[in-house]
Parts: sequence; C-alpha cells; structure tokens
Amino acid sequence: MQKTWSGSRVDLHIDLDASKGRRSALESALRDGIRQGRLAAGTLLPSTRGLATELGLSCGTVTAAYDQLVEEGYLTTRPGSGTTVADIPPETVTSPSAVPIPAGPHHDLRPGIPDVSAFPARAWLAATRRVVAGSRSVVFGAGDPQGRIELRAAVADYLGRTRGVTTTPDRIVITSGYYQGLSLLSGVLAQNGAQRVAVEDPSHNVFRAVVQRAGLATPPMPVDARGACVDALTREVDAVLLTPSHQYPTGVPLHPSRRQAVGAWMRTTGGLVIEDDYDGEYRYDRQPVGAFQGVAPDRTIYCGTASKTLGPALRLAWMALPPHLVKPVVEAKQQADLYTESLSQLVLADLITTHAYDRHVRATRLHYRRRRELLLGRVSGITGLTAHGVPAGLHALLTLPTDWPPEDEILSLCARQGLALRGLSELHIDPRGRPEGLLIGFAAPPEHAYRAALDALFETLLQLATNTK
Ligand SMILES: Cc1ncc(COP(=O)(O)O)c(C=O)c1O
Repeated sequence: MQKTWSGSRVDLHIDLDASKGRRSALESALRDGIRQGRLAAGTLLPSTRGLATELGLSCGTVTAAYDQLVEEGYLTTRPGSGTTVADIPPETVTSPSAVPIPAGPHHDLRPGIPDVSAFPARAWLAATRRVVAGSRSVVFGAGDPQGRIELRAAVADYLGRTRGVTTTPDRIVITSGYYQGLSLLSGVLAQNGAQRVAVEDPSHNVFRAVVQRAGLATPPMPVDARGACVDALTREVDAVLLTPSHQYPTGVPLHPSRRQAVGAWMRTTGGLVIEDDYDGEYRYDRQPVGAFQGVAPDRTIYCGTASKTLGPALRLAWMALPPHLVKPVVEAKQQADLYTESLSQLVLADLITTHAYDRHVRATRLHYRRRRELLLGRVSGITGLTAHGVPAGLHALLTLPTDWPPEDEILSLCARQGLALRGLSELHIDPRGRPEGLLIGFAAPPEHAYRAALDALFETLLQLATNTK
C-alpha cells in the first residue's frame, strides 16, 4: 500500500508493505526512511492522530510504532515538542540535502569565472519584486521559445548602445547559455548543409566539442599576435567561430587587417561568422572595440552571455541572428527545451532597462582592472614569466620560462597548494610542440580573498623560479 503522507509537518512517501502487519509495516517504512537519510535527523514527525488519519490506521498502531522506534533509537520524544528523528548515521543512500559538497579549492583562480560575491543581489531582488508584483500570467504562464520580448528588446538596445551591434528584438534569441546557443546554431547549420566551421587554435575545447557534436568538422586557424590567422579560411569553410574582441585564451584582439580579411572572405564565399563576445564588456585601457557583427550584420551571428557579467549559473545568453536564421534557430530551441524560464529573463530585462546592469558592469570593471594590474605587477617580478593579451577580460595567459618544469607538473604543484587554475595545453587542438602556459582567472575570488590567492600563487611560482636557477 503506497501512500503519500503529507501531514502539516513533513511530506514523505510511505510504502506500507501489505505482507506485514500494519504496525510492523509502518515501523519498517519509517526505519528505512531514516536509515536511507530520506528522513533527516531533527525532522519533526506528524502527530500520532495526524498520521493515523492520513494512513488510515488506528492511533494505537501509530503510537506503538513510534514507541518501538524510540526504543530502538531511531526517534526521540520530548514532552510538548513531539516526536523527531534521532541523529543516526545514514546507510548507503543519502538524501539530496545530505550529499556532501566537495571541498572546493582554497584559492579559486579559474579563468572565465566572475566574482559572484559581487552579484548585484539587492538590485536583482528589487527587480524580482517588481516583476512578480506584475502580471502572474506573464511571469509564470507559458514562455516564448525565442525568449521574452521584454528581454529581447532590452538586449537589442543594450547591444546597440554598448557593443555597436546592429539588431532588433525580433532577431534576438535567448538561450540557456552560449553553450546551448552554439549547440542549436551548429545543428541548424549542419541541417542546412554546412560541413566545416573553422575554429581558433587554441580555443575553448568545450565549445569546439559542441560544434563537432553537430557533425561539423572544425578546421583549425592558428592564433598569433594579431589574433586568428584567417588566411586559413577557404571556400570549403562554411562558417568561422571567432572571439574577435579578446581571443580566448590568448587575450589578443583580432587585428583590423584580419577583420577586413574576414569581411572579404564572407563577401566572396557567403561564409558566416559566429562571434563569441563572451567578455566584450571588460576592456580596461580604452573603450571596448565594437563587435564585429556591426560590420556584417546579415552574415554574423553575434553571441553574448550573462555568465561573465553576473554569473554562469544563471544560464542566460543571447544571439543576434541574421534574419534567415531566426526561424530555424527558434524551432531548434523549441525542440530542445521549449523555452528558457521566464522569471530570470524578466528580471534581467528590468536590470538592463533601469541601467542597474550597466552600473554593475562598470563597478566590476574597476575591480577587475585593479586585480589584473596587481597580477601583472607580480608577473613582472619573475624573469621569463610572460603575460599575454590586452588589458581586458577575466583572465590572463602566462607563458612559462623555458627552464621550468612542464605545465602539468606546475598545475599539480599548484593544486597541492589549494590553487585552482587552468593550463593552456588542453586548449590546443594538438598540444604537441605548442607553447605551454597558465590561465589565471583574476576575477573569480571574492574581493577579500584575492590578495591571499595571489600570494599563494606567487609563493609557488617563486619557488619554481628559485629551484630552476
Ligand atoms: C570562450 C567562452 N565563450 C563563452 C562562454 C560563455 O558560455 P555560457 O554562456 O554557456 O556560460 C564562456 C564561458 O566559460 C567562454 O569561456
């Protein structure tokens, strides 16, 4: 007999074994719940009368079962405070709330992660209140596969104003992260007959894999001091995936001559550009260079994300699409997961239109700029350790002195000191013979923890420098 016991205190699915007597079946069900951790220590059980009514048992049966489990140490009773689950170690299965959270690294210097302790919680909560106080059917009713019009309108305006993107709300599609956007787009390109999407080398391995999973080949374009070597773009290439504002991971912007060469390739071959503008808001020495999309809006898919400005767990990103791709991409989005949930879209739309988003970006830009300067100051104290890229983004690439141990050994050494960072090698398509390096995310730690993270990193690196003298 299966019953869901939803007394006023807890909600628990109880399976009473019909082959046993009623009292014994209830005892077993409670014992199992406690042993497996589904009933956590301290949980207040329903009154005997309440449970008896819910389960169709007599009060005497429930009282006897409770008494038995008190005797066995599974439950405790205190006059006036009811019956609660005792603190016993759970068996094999643990409840979701009891799943141990793995201890994170002591110093988080992973690239690409913003300081989420600076998340604009007050503005977000105020915007949430405004949104929820509005129409419930707008917020909690069916969503839109293309994304909420409120957010599409806010994003189209924001991108035009801050990134020089030429678009309109009907060309914007909201996705659950760039990851999903790129996946949908790759599927649509493959369906339309595309075979090759050129990628930067090095570039983010996760996103290369997304393109490959759609059945597309990813011919590499080496990256030098001017960004991607776009002369690798031939007639056979259908599209190219670029990070033109701040190449990931080297940090160089695409040189104007290369931008022009890409434009010429698009015109002569009809090729498409997928522009990953993942951290375009963060340039520290000058106004950010406008998005490439502004040059060729009808053949560029511009991709932006809230993962760097607000936090990756929001899973909110946007694409500004050429008109011919809007319908197929929206259909692909609908097939994938119907639509991205509405509440956070509406809240973000509110933050953008009230300019709280701009204020947050400006404030974090100042923090990150100072953090990058602190990092580079320390780098300059170690001969042969070299920082690459322009003052921008949330990470810096450091290449290593030639007499240092290999990258993987350095990463292991750093891990032993509680430092989380990333190596360059895994971002090369074929790391053999390619430069090694460290990617230092200077944005990830909370403000108060940044100096300690730098101290720990440079203590380790200085040790290496001394050992190799
Ligand atoms: C190169 C690059 N592009 C884009 C993104 C954003 O991805 P998403 O919006 O799926 O979080 C990231 C985040 O790690 C990234 O490193």
